[in-house]
Amino acid sequence: MKIESDFLIIGSGVAGLMFALKVAKVGTVALVTKKSATESNTNYAQGGIASVFDKPDSYDAHIDDTLKSGDGLCDPDVVAMVVKDGPARIRELIEFGVQFNTKSAQDSSIPNLENLDLGREGGHSQNRIVHAQDMTGEAVERALISQIKKNNRITVYENHIAIDLITCSTRVKRGFVTTTHEDYCCGAYVFDRSQSRVKTFCSKITLLATGGAGKVYLYTSNPDIATGDGIAMGYRAGTTVANLEFVQFHPTCLYHPDAKNFLISEAVRGEGGRLIDSQGKPFMEKYDPLKDLACRDVVARAIDTELKKSGDESVFLDISHKGEAFIKNRFPNLYQKALQFGFDMTQEPLPVVPAAHYICGGVTTDMEGRTDIRHLYAVGEAACTGLHGANRLASNSLLEALVYSHRAAAAAMEDLKKFQFNFPVISPWDEMSTTDSDEQIMVSHNWDEIRRLMWNYVGIVRSDKRLERAKRRIEIILKEIHDYYWDFKITSDLIELRNLATVADLIITCATHRKESRGLHYNIEYPERNDNLWQKDTILRRPFLG
Ligand code: FAD
Ligand code: SIN
Repeated sequence: MKIESDFLIIGSGVAGLMFALKVAKVGTVALVTKKSATESNTNYAQGGIASVFDKPDSYDAHIDDTLKSGDGLCDPDVVAMVVKDGPARIRELIEFGVQFNTKSAQDSSIPNLENLDLGREGGHSQNRIVHAQDMTGEAVERALISQIKKNNRITVYENHIAIDLITCSTRVKRGFVTTTHEDYCCGAYVFDRSQSRVKTFCSKITLLATGGAGKVYLYTSNPDIATGDGIAMGYRAGTTVANLEFVQFHPTCLYHPDAKNFLISEAVRGEGGRLIDSQGKPFMEKYDPLKDLACRDVVARAIDTELKKSGDESVFLDISHKGEAFIKNRFPNLYQKALQFGFDMTQEPLPVVPAAHYICGGVTTDMEGRTDIRHLYAVGEAACTGLHGANRLASNSLLEALVYSHRAAAAAMEDLKKFQFNFPVISPWDEMSTTDSDEQIMVSHNWDEIRRLMWNYVGIVRSDKRLERAKRRIEIILKEIHDYYWDFKITSDLIELRNLATVADLIITCATHRKESRGLHYNIEYPERNDNLWQKDTILRRPFLG
C-alpha cells in the first residue's frame, strides 16, 4: 500500500505536532506515530519551558547559563537564536490554549507574557521556567493535539512505526535498505502495527521528530517509545550524527521497584528541596557552590559518588519543610504519584536515584533543521542542533523543539515552493521468503542485555575498560540482530531492538572516541576537560555501502 503526501512527519511529540500545524497551511500532511498520538516524552515533561520574560532576567543571562551548562561545546549563534525566539514561541502556545501558571490566583485564567509564574531549575541563574503546574508537557501535548484534530489537511496514523527512510537511491531486499550518500529523501517504510503490514509513505518533505533514546538504558525517566528510532534511521540513511556520548542522567527519579523511574522534577529543588543522605545530612555543598541547584551532570555524579561510598540504594529529596499547602498546590501530580507508592512528600523525604533522561546528540542539522540529506529535516530530541553542547540546561529541550519546528517548517514550506518534486520509482517492501519467528527469545534477551550493559558500562562514570567491554558485547548483539532480521518477519519489537542496538553502538563509539571528561561524559582515565584536543563535536557518518 502506498500513501502520498507533501509532508511526512514521523513522531507526535511537541516537535512533530508543531511542525505539522505550520506546514499544513501549504500542503497535505501524513503524521505517523508508533503508539497513540499522545505517547511521547513531551507528554511526561514536568518542570517547564525556559524563556526570558522580565527583569532582572535577560537574554544574555539565559545565553550565559546555556553556554556554561554546555561546557564549551554549544554553538553560540544557535544558543542566541533559540533564547531570543523563546518568548514568541511561548506566546504561540498560549494562543493555542496552553494554560500556563500565572503569578497570582486572580489572573490565573488569562496567561500572557507579563503575568507568567516563573520557576527555577538547576544551572539557571534566574527564575525563567514557564510551567503548567508540574505537568507542563501534558498541557502542551493536549493543546497541540486538539489543534491537529481540527485540521483536515493533517492525517494522523497511530500505531504506525517507521522502519527506514526512503531515499531516491533506496533499494530494498527483505527489510535491508541500502542507500547512497548523494541522495534526497522521499518518504519512509512504515509498519502498521494493527494490520501487521508494511506501508510505503511517499513524501516531498520528511521530518524526523522521533524523540530520544532513554530506553537504551536499564533505568530511565523516558516512556517506552524512546528507542532512538530516528537517530538510527537517519544514520542508516546516511545522515551525519554527532555527540551521542552526551547522555543526560536526571539526578532525581523516584526509587521504588514499581515506579518505573518516575521523575521527581528539578523544580522541587528549584522551590527549595534539598538532597540528603540516609543519615539526613545534605551533601551537595561538597560538590558545587550552587549546591542542590548545580547543573545536572554535577548533581548526578555527586549522587553516584555518595551511593558508591555509602552502599545505600538511594539518596533522599526533602521538601517537607515547605508545608502541605504549598506542596499540594505547586506539585499536585508529584504529590499524588508519590503517595501511590507510599510516600507522603509533605511529611517525609522521597528516596531518589539518577536515571537516563535525555540524549544531547542526534542527527545533525543546520539552523533551519535541515539534515545533510536533501528534503529530510530533524527537530526535537532526535536532532543535534548545537544548542545543548555537552550538557543540556534544564527545560531548554521543549524550547529547542518549539523554536526549531517553527524554523524548519518555514524552510520546508520554501522548499516545497522552490523545487520541482518527482517521486522516483520506489521499491515496495519485500517480504518474500521471510517467515514468522519461533525465536522471540532473541528479541527479549537482547533488549535486556543492551539496556543492562549500557547501564553498567556506559553510564554516569565511564572507563576505557568498561567501554571496551561494551563494544565487544554490542558487536555480537548487532550481528545476531542482523542475522535474525534477515530471516524473520518484522515486528515492532524487532524494529525497536535493531534501533536500540544501533544507537547503543553509536553512543559507545562516541564515548570511546572522546579522551577527556566534559559535561555529561566522564571517563575516570581522563578526568579533566582538554580544550586543546577535544573542544569539538564527535561526528559519525555511516560508511558508504554502495
Ligand atoms: P517526543 O516528545 O519524545 O516525541 C517523539 C514521538 O515520536 C512520539 O510520538 C513517538 O511515539 C514517536 N516515534 C518514535 N519513533 C517512531 C517511529 N519509529 N515511528 C513512528 N513514530 C515514532 N524538557 C524540558 O524542556 N522541560 C521539561 O520539563 C522536561 N521534563 C521532562 C520530563 C520527563 C519525564 C522526560 C522523559 C523528559 C522531559 N524533558 C523536558 C525532555 C523533553 O520532554 C523532550 O526532550 C521533548 O519533549 C522531546 O520532544 P520530541 O517531540 O522531540 O520527542
Ligand atoms: C524536570 O522537570 O526536572 C525535567 C526538566 C528537563 O528535563 O528539562
